[in-house]
Amino acid sequence: MIEGIQIENPILIFSQEEILIRVSELRKRIAEDYCERKPLFIGVLKGAFVFLADLVRKFDFPLEIDFIRVSSYMGGMESKGIELIMDTSIPVEGRHVIVVDGIVDTGATLRFIVGRLKLKNPASLGVCALIDKKEKRGIEVKLDYVGFEIENGFLIGYGLDLNERGRELNGIYLIK
Ligand code: IMP
Ligand code: MG
Repeated sequence: MIEGIQIENPILIFSQEEILIRVSELRKRIAEDYCERKPLFIGVLKGAFVFLADLVRKFDFPLEIDFIRVSSYMGGMESKGIELIMDTSIPVEGRHVIVVDGIVDTGATLRFIVGRLKLKNPASLGVCALIDKKEKRGIEVKLDYVGFEIENGFLIGYGLDLNERGRELNGIYLIK
């Protein structure tokens, strides 16, 4: 059991130290690619909020940050459909957009978001995902920057939740 949440036998798979090292590697690559493009980062709520904060914290070039929120009708660990809950507020047209997502599973959520954003004519659209969970990917989505790859399993921590629990954990844990 993790402190405060009753989830049996969580296994630490990425420690805070590992995550921060990986995030700074992604940050360097993104800085090289975008430092002269005034990128617009669009975080996918809620799961990406910790990742996005750590990612952008040390950038030293102009950028803007926005958020989008979709519901995936998560019944526990299963995703059943997608609905827009909160749209972005900064105009996307002509901007170099980077969508920042916490975890990509089937790809349905990201396809929905990328599809919506493309209709608004960004100058470019990149995707950065902390976790690429590969096993159930039925929908091809291009991930330009990936923190970690896993085959399967349900992860919590570092912003990721199971029924709103576990987002505050420093590391990323695998649960059954
Ligand atoms: P997809 O639409 O199947 O790619 O699912 C993506 C969404 O499902 C993510 O944005 C999360 O909200 C949720 N999700 C999928 N797998 C996990 C997981 O292992 N931990 C926490 N949330 C997950
Ligand atoms: Mg969730």
